[in-house]
Amino acid sequence: LPVVVLISGTGSNLAALLTAARAADCPFTVVAVIADRDAAGLEHARAAGIPTQIVRLAEHPDRSRWDTALADAVAAHHPQLVVLAGFMKLIGPALLEAFGGRIVNTHPALLPSFPGAHGVRDALAHGVKVTGCSIIEVDAGVDTGRILAQAAVEVRDEDTEATLHERIKAVEQPLLVDVVRRLTARP
Ligand code: GRF
Repeated sequence: LPVVVLISGTGSNLAALLTAARAADCPFTVVAVIADRDAAGLEHARAAGIPTQIVRLAEHPDRSRWDTALADAVAAHHPQLVVLAGFMKLIGPALLEAFGGRIVNTHPALLPSFPGAHGVRDALAHGVKVTGCSIIEVDAGVDTGRILAQAAVEVRDEDTEATLHERIKAVEQPLLVDVVRRLTARP
């Protein structure tokens, strides 16, 4: 089934999805990758010959027009599922209305702890000994949607935000792939 992936960053989660999609028994295909900026991860899509598009907030008169443009860009590919894989902007009502219940997001903390843009940094600052990642269904709130899967990662005394995030990403990628496979598998 067709999946559209939205990214803002390096796209390691996207790369994991693209690798998984190459397997003969994989139930999903990545049909387009859309970013809100010149995300380095777009290269993964280009290398795989997958259409890419950038829908920048700054090129739209306001947030609602940007939201509609983004929803239109996604809808043009008729996805069954929309995956936010390190997409760093809050999505708006147009996208939610068009794909409600069919948008998943990955977050680098064990929700409901440490929602928002700095899940790794906030967990480290709080001094938790275990953190991890969460794959959630996207709703109108900030990282408040139904939790679909989680994996735990131990925090080490010597961890920095970067080292901890690296270990979280290592479990986040297979977890996201699993959830996307599950949500696109035919019954
Ligand atoms: C992921 O850990 C995601 O959960 C977080 O930012 C990271 C994005 O990584 N929001 P990448 O762009 O997929 O490499």
